[in-house]
Order: sequence, then C-alpha cells, then structure tokens
Amino acid sequence: MARENFASGKTAIMAMAGSAIGLGNIWRFPYMVGQNGGATFVLIYLFCVLLLCLPIFIAESTIGRCSGSNTFGAMAKLAPGTKWKWIGLLTVITPLIILSYYSVVGGWSVDYMLKSVISGFSSDAPEYFGRFTSSVWKPLIFHTIFLSLTCIIVLRGVKAGIEKFNKASLPLLFILIVAIAVYSMTLPGASEGIAYMLKPDFSSLSARSFAYAMGQGFFSLSIGVGAILTYSSYMKKDESLIGSAAGTAIFDLMFAVIAGLAVMPAVFAAGIEPGAGPGLIFETLPYIFSQMAEEAPLLSRVVSICFFVTIVFAALTSSISLVEVGVSYLAEEHGYSRRKAVLVIFSIAWTLGAVCSLSFGPLAGVKLFGLSAFSFCDVLTSNFLITFGSLLFVIFVGWKMDRELVRNEITNGGTLPFACRVFKPLYFMIRYVAPVVLVAIFLTNFML
Ligand code: TRP
Repeated sequence: MARENFASGKTAIMAMAGSAIGLGNIWRFPYMVGQNGGATFVLIYLFCVLLLCLPIFIAESTIGRCSGSNTFGAMAKLAPGTKWKWIGLLTVITPLIILSYYSVVGGWSVDYMLKSVISGFSSDAPEYFGRFTSSVWKPLIFHTIFLSLTCIIVLRGVKAGIEKFNKASLPLLFILIVAIAVYSMTLPGASEGIAYMLKPDFSSLSARSFAYAMGQGFFSLSIGVGAILTYSSYMKKDESLIGSAAGTAIFDLMFAVIAGLAVMPAVFAAGIEPGAGPGLIFETLPYIFSQMAEEAPLLSRVVSICFFVTIVFAALTSSISLVEVGVSYLAEEHGYSRRKAVLVIFSIAWTLGAVCSLSFGPLAGVKLFGLSAFSFCDVLTSNFLITFGSLLFVIFVGWKMDRELVRNEITNGGTLPFACRVFKPLYFMIRYVAPVVLVAIFLTNFML
C-alpha cells in the first residue's frame, strides 16, 4: 500500500497543531495555572516549551521523516538489527493508554456540548458533574460516541480524513476561543483574572512549578508518544522540520494562553477561587454559565455552546493522532487493512476507557498504587511514559543516529540556511541538555 503524504507544510503544521491543541490546553492548562501561581507559571511554561520541548519535538520529528515509517518501523529501519524497535513498540502502547482516558473526557465534553444546546446549565452544575461521572451508562455511551467519531475520521485516511478534518477545525477553534476570551475579558470584574494570567509574581516560583511546566509542555505538544513521529513521517522531504515544529509550538502556546484568558477572567468575575483543579471546566464554568443565564439567558447559552463545541473539536483533532499511531503500525508492520486496524485500536481503547470511566462510579474502590484506574492511566502516561518516550527519542537522535544523517534531515541536505545556522546548538540541546533534563524530571516524578 502506497504511503500517503500531507499536501503541504502548512497542512502538516495544521495536523500537528491539531494534535497538540486539545484538552491539555483548555482543560489542563488553565487549572495548572490556577494551582501554580498564575502568570509566573505561564512564563516558566513559555520558557520550557521554547527552549526545551522544541528540541525534543524536532528530534521526534527527525526520526519520523527520516524513516518515513510508523514508530516501530522507524526504529527498525534506522537502527536495524538492534532492540530499538521494541522501544518503537512502547510508543504504540502509550498513545493507546492516553487515548482510552482521553476519550472518556472527550465523552464528557460531548455530553456537556449537547447539554448546553438542549437545556443549558442550572446552578447545581457542580453536583451534576459528580452525579454524571459516577453513573454507569451515560458516560460510557458518550465515551463510545467520542471514540467512534475519532475512528470514523481516521478510517478515511491521512489526506481525506486527518488532513481535511484538521484543516477545517483549526480555524474554527481559534475563532471560537478568541471570541470567548474577548467576551470573558469584558465581563465586569474580569481585570483581576487578566492580571492573574499575565502579571507574574516571582515569589510563587518553585522547583515543583518547573517540573509541572515541563510535564505540561510535553503533554500539550503531544511529544514522547510517537504521534509527532507518525505525523512527521507523512511530511514531504522539502518541508522544514524546524519550521513545522516552531509553527506547532507557537499555535499551541497561543491557544493555551487565549484559553486561559477565556477561563480565568470569567472565574474571577464570578468571585470564585481559581485553584479548583480538574473540575474547573466541568464544574466551575457551567456554574458560571448558569449564573449568567439569570441576567442574559440567550448570551449565556451561546457562549456555553461555543465553549463546549471548542472543547469537543479540540479533543477530536488530538485523539485522531493518537489513533493514527496504532493504525499506521498495524497497517504497515502487520499488513492490516485500515479498517481492520482501526477496529482493533477501537476495541482496545474502548475497553480500557470503559474501565477508566467506571472508575468514577462502580469501580471507584479498585485502586492501583492508591489511584483509580483513570488517575493511574493519567499519571502513568503524563508523568512517566511521555517523559520516558521523549528521553528515548533524544537519545536515539543524539547518540544512535549518525550526526550527518540528522543534519541532513533537519537542514534538508544543507538547503535551509536558518536550519544550518541553528543546527549546532540544536544538536547540543538534543544530545546533552535534553537527556539530563528529562532524567531529572523523570526522577522528580517519584518525589512529587
Ligand atoms: N496534546 C494533547 C492535548 O493537549 C494531548 C496529548 C498528549 C496528545 N499526548 C498526546 C494528543 C499525543 C495526541 C498525541 O490535549
């Protein structure tokens, strides 16, 4: 079967940005900011993404495009006869675990989107969240719907499915989130929230916020799990790897900050504490929408619909990249048809996701290392597997691959002047700095 390619560098960036922009930006980033001291965290985050995550992103991308293969095949091709391919296999498993619990949260978002269309939210929104997530069937049904939507898009292929969906969704996402942010920032009492997002207070700086910022950077940029590797393998040889990495990082950063500006000012305007944690989006915001509805029912409805539509689409553009990692592996290494590969991935992710979903209700008592199935999958992937995967990628590019091969791939055979100029420091970051930082973060996870 001939491999498909993304049509251009622009659509490759859109696909990668689609993978990067997701629940991590709208759901995780604002509450992380809320729990870690506001603008100082935003600043550390910017620093981490541009200086440390970007080289790792480029390393992962290099493996993908240089090999033109799925994660397993890439390692087998670039380091033939070694055990590296099994590491490639690890990066087929990690995205499957992420996909499982991601799809559960994606399912909640679909429910909230429909709820905002059909009935709007009432002031018992925080209690509704607890009731909804701990019930058996409803979250399971929405998990199934979300995962099915994801799989239908992937089934249509790289060009007609993934590329087309991202191309249509990304502009929509930006328009909606900017509109919501503008609205939120003009609410009476919003200025405190804006300052919270943008004015740093260095007294809240700690080693912990640094580790969290790095972790959030990896998660948000989708690095370390083979998604960027797989998408990069669909990039044409004359596109710039540094350009697409920088483009993706900038879109992702912008989206996170705008999402923060959409959420925080509204939270402050409603007089609510910003450190609510994971419930910020599903408990606090719907409550705010219900309060708004008392004065401006129509406006409240429109804003809440826009907000949850944004979340659903952002989550979909990410989850399709998670599915594609496994699909390209099964299709290329085991000769599966796309349909069969999608079906296999669906079945595994659905089952594991169902366990995660039920871990809020009937299975709440079942603990692994003191964590529910959902939290276990989240912590295992976000804190450990993503960092570990990133570490393996940078070691592979920095120490296993031939330097000239890497240089050739990043500079397109010496034809990209900017890439040629920055190659040396970039290679230094990939070879020395990134592994040290990644090991440090890996170890910090055991202490936090
Ligand atoms: N970046 C996604 C988000 O911000 C989540 C994510 C983490 C992801 N790792 C991934 C998505 C790998 C796709 C592939 O929501």
